[in-house]
Amino acid sequence: MGNWMEGRTLAKQIREKVGSEVSQFLKNKNQSPGLAGILVGENKASKIYLGIKEKHSRRLNIRSEIIHLPETTEAASLKSKIQELNQREDVDGILIQLPLPSSFDTHDILTTMKPEKDVDGFHPFSLGNLLMDEEGFRPCTPLGIMELLKYYNIPIEGQKVVVIGRSLIVGKPLASLITNDNGTVTLCHSRTKELSRVAAEADILVAAIGRGAYVTPEFVKEGAVVVDVGQNSISDKEKVKEYFGDNEKRERDLEKKGYTLIGDVHPQVIHKARYLTPVPGGVGPLTVAMLMKNTLESFKKRRGL
Ligand code: GUN
Repeated sequence: MGNWMEGRTLAKQIREKVGSEVSQFLKNKNQSPGLAGILVGENKASKIYLGIKEKHSRRLNIRSEIIHLPETTEAASLKSKIQELNQREDVDGILIQLPLPSSFDTHDILTTMKPEKDVDGFHPFSLGNLLMDEEGFRPCTPLGIMELLKYYNIPIEGQKVVVIGRSLIVGKPLASLITNDNGTVTLCHSRTKELSRVAAEADILVAAIGRGAYVTPEFVKEGAVVVDVGQNSISDKEKVKEYFGDNEKRERDLEKKGYTLIGDVHPQVIHKARYLTPVPGGVGPLTVAMLMKNTLESFKKRRGL
């Protein structure tokens, strides 16, 4: 049986460090970082994620505002909203919650943002800096994964790392971060042939596909480190039993909320892996912590602090 690679403790440490720096700036200079989040449309998961980000910002005295626009918003008015935030002195970070509704050209919208306020690291300028291993904002989930591996003393250099999922939010930037740290990356996706065989060669396996319990024990080398980025909700009682066995906590969760969260990795993988991140409580909390950290960095840089 492997160990759970828990993210909550590290995330809390990072948030507390950000919070205490923010308090110092407030006390000494009466200034604090400001973060503006833009949500377009009614994507349920996006609303939840953005709500969590806002809650944590407030707790750390990061001024936070959410701009919620209807799905029918014209691209031109979304862009003028972003330009307004670009100009505002009191806004240090801009976050455009993805995915945008399909009618929007995501590249066009992201490039409207001033790169110096791109605390999510999705502007092409930030992504270019990542590829070139130059300073700049890094996307929060991949950055959080790197922090978690470091915290658990898991080396990257020379290791075979397989990432399943080539999204802009996780897979592609994570592959670059690992490459920059001298890991050997294989970036897999839905067209990869013999996926389970490729995955089973990994010393470190990262699952970011968005399909519940997709990565079964046959994908995993004995003793591998497995990072689960998935957040899938299941509400079928039989499925919950199939994945988690007789698990009181999960049954209570299902009863209370009508669903429970499962990652992209089958929970049985814990018996084969050396480490596995839990869902919830693994990578998720780190995404938020890294956003807080990036926002503080932006605040300091913009004010020469
Ligand atoms: N959608 C899913 N994850 C993220 C994230 O970290 N940032 C943004 N902006 N959108 C997301």
